[in-house]
This record gives sequence, structure tokens and C-alpha cells, in this order.
Amino acid sequence: MHIFREAGALRAWVRGQKQQGHRVGFVPTMGNLHAGHFSLIEIARRHCDRVIASVFVNPTQFGEGEDFARYPRTPDADANGLRDHRCDALFLPQAGEIYPFGTAQGVSIHVPGLSDVLEGAARPGHFDGVAGVVCRLFNLVQADLAVFGSKDYQQLLVVRRMAGDLGFPLEIIGAPIVREANGLAMSSRNQYLDAAQRENAGIIHATLCWMCERVRASDMHLADIERTASARLSEAGFSPDYAVLRNAGDLSEVNEHVRSGLVALLAVRLGQVRLIDNMACDPAL
Ligand code: PAF
Repeated sequence: MHIFREAGALRAWVRGQKQQGHRVGFVPTMGNLHAGHFSLIEIARRHCDRVIASVFVNPTQFGEGEDFARYPRTPDADANGLRDHRCDALFLPQAGEIYPFGTAQGVSIHVPGLSDVLEGAARPGHFDGVAGVVCRLFNLVQADLAVFGSKDYQQLLVVRRMAGDLGFPLEIIGAPIVREANGLAMSSRNQYLDAAQRENAGIIHATLCWMCERVRASDMHLADIERTASARLSEAGFSPDYAVLRNAGDLSEVNEHVRSGLVALLAVRLGQVRLIDNMACDPAL
């Protein structure tokens, strides 16, 4: 596996691969890689001849008091895992490579609407940081395709909108969520949970399944489904930030009569840890 620390060298390599007729896939990450990330590499591999991953803990998507400083950094394990999953190249940029004018002076990108609700409301500025860094990475890497996990569903929509609006000529694939045996969606933040909390966190997935079942059965008002879901999570010891049913295409609120094209989204806190998860209620979505 090639390791690139400078964008110029990576770009030259990508250009060479494309000249040889290879399709290049890209998986951006913040490292601390787990089975969920490796599934993204495998999906990229199915669609492309060459796969590049990046590891960059992006400061601009962390708010004040969030876990930027203590975000787990495991470069050696990440590189070994990527090698084991037949990743061809790893881009490991320093901050100056991504933000040549510094983070405060850098161009910022805001996706109106989508960036302001749910996670965006709970974490102001978060999606500007995500859209900004993904835009820079897309430009630096020049891949034909990029893969993002659907666990961060709102992020996937923000990235799609940003790439579509700015005319990036690349395909974006949303990958299925990879779950632990009890249904807990894999996330680097799960390691902040102790064993009992981790087991208990299976209720998040169970609640999403229940919400979607109620939508499909059409036996409860949507607002009651949301209220009951929140209550269940609270009873299980979580502090829900939201438990909602939204239009899967743009996260807009839906009226009571809509029963198709919905996604259930949850965000809960457990002590210092904030977990998010989601589920498409239409199996076809
Ligand atoms: O999902 C992530 O790991 C990050 O938000 C991303 C897309 C790599 C941007 O920093």
C-alpha cells in the first residue's frame, strides 16, 4: 500500500492510475478504523480497480467542548487494517495540506437547510466543517467514486448535495450500516462505552426497528411514534436529543398521512457519549 502525505504525490499517482484505464475509488475517514470502515473499502473495491483511503481528524467539524483532542488516533493499526483489506493507497495529510491558509481563514461551505437541522442544530457548524473538508479531499484526490457510511445519514445527504451543487464529477455511494451482534451501529465512539453500556445500547437499534414497524403497520400517529420512541430510550437510561421520522430525501418534516419514503433518526446521550443511528422505514430505500 502506498502512503502519501502530500497531495501532489497522491494526485500524480491517481493520474497515472487513470491513464492506465483504472477506475479510482475513495473512502475518506478520520481513522480509528473498524469493521464499518473496512466494509466501505470493500464496497469501493467492488466498483473500482484502485482504492484510496484518507485518514484525517478534521478539526473544523468539531465544536467547542467536543472530543477533537481526545478523538482516538491509531495510525499504525489503521494502516495495517487497510493493508489487510487490500487498500491500494493511504492519504495521511497534515492539517497544512488541507487548510493551507489555516482553519480560521479557510473558505467555508454551507449546505443550507440540510446542515441546519437535527445533527446540525445540535452541533452548530459541524456540517460546514464536513462539507468543507470533503470538498477539499474530493479536489485533492480526484477519484471517480467515493463511499460514505449510512450511519451518518445526514452527512451523506450533505455531501451528496455539496458535490451535486458544486459539480464534482464523481459518483457517491452510501454504504449499509454495519452493526454489532446486539444491533449497535459500529462507531469509533462506541469505545467510550463500558461493557454494560454497550450491551444496553442495543435498545437504539431496537427502537428504530419499532418505529419503522409502526410506520409500516400504520397503526399509530407519527408524532406518537416519535414520543413513545423517546420515552423508551429515556426509560433505558439514555437522554434522547431526538427520535424523529423524516423525509428520507431531504430530512424535511412530513405530515401525518405520509407513510412512504421515511427514515427514522435517533440521537441519544449516555453520559459524555453521543450516539446516532438511523433506519430507512421503506425497505426499498
Ligand atoms: O465520517 C467521517 O469520518 C468524517 O465526517 C469525514 C467524512 C471523513 C470527514 O471528515
